[in-house]
Amino acid sequence: MTSIDWSQHPPFIYPDYKSSVLRGPTQSMLDIGALYAKASAIRMGELSGSLTDRFVPGEADHDLIRNAQQGGAPLGERIVVSGRVLNQQGKPVPGVLIEIWQANSCGRYAHKVDQHDAPLDPNFRGVGRCLSDRDGSYRFYTIKPAAYPWKNHPNAWRPQHIHFSLIGQSIDSRLVTQMYFPGDPLLGFDPIFNATPGSAQERLIATLDLGITEADFALGYHFDIVIAGCRATGQEEKTAESRTATNAES
Ligand SMILES: [Fe+2]
Repeated sequence: MTSIDWSQHPPFIYPDYKSSVLRGPTQSMLDIGALYAKASAIRMGELSGSLTDRFVPGEADHDLIRNAQQGGAPLGERIVVSGRVLNQQGKPVPGVLIEIWQANSCGRYAHKVDQHDAPLDPNFRGVGRCLSDRDGSYRFYTIKPAAYPWKNHPNAWRPQHIHFSLIGQSIDSRLVTQMYFPGDPLLGFDPIFNATPGSAQERLIATLDLGITEADFALGYHFDIVIAGCRATGQEEKTAESRTATNAES
C-alpha cells in the first residue's frame, strides 16, 4: 500500500469539509526518511509474519447482525456487503484486516460522542472485522445505515455510508475509506464525497449484486477495494485515518 496516486484521493484540506480546514496540514511535509527507515527496521522485528498468522477473527466478528445481540435482532434492512481486496494489477490481496463501522438503521452511532436525537439499537453495535481470504474476498452481514445530520453547514446530512479500514502487513500500511450506496440522492450534497476527485467517486459506490443477495434474507452489495495505483479506492484525507467517525465530524 505504499504507492499512492494522490490524484485519486481527496486533498488534505477541502474547504467545504469544514473540519479538514482545522486539522489539515498547512506546512510542507518533513522528510522523515531516515527516521522512518530506522523505525521500520524496529517494526519489522516486532511485526514479522502476516496478520493471518497473528490475528484470528471471532466467529461472528464479520456479522454485525449477530455480534451485538442481547436477546433480539437489530432493527432495519439486512444487507450483505462483499467484494475483494485487489492490488493495482487486479490480483487478490489475502490476509488484509478489514474493519468496518457505521451508524444504525436510524442514523446513530453507538458512540458516546454521537448525540444525534435518534434511537440507539441495543442489539446493534455497528462494528465488524474480518480478514480477506486467499482470493482477496471478504463478506460482512449488517444493517443498512441511515443518513444522519452533522454540523458541517446548515441542514447538512451525510449520505448512507459504511466506514472501512484496511491494514496490510503492518499498521503503517493502512487505507481508510467510506462505501456509499447507489442512487443515494444525498451524494451530490456531501462535501466528504465531493472531496474525492470526480473520476474516482464511482469507486466509492457499491453496486447492488443479486449474486451476493441471499434470497428471503438480505440484499447484497458488491464493493471491491483497490489498495494502490491509478484505480485505487479513494482514501479519506489522511489526518482522519485513526479516528472513529462521529456524528460531529463525519
Ligand atoms: Fe460516518
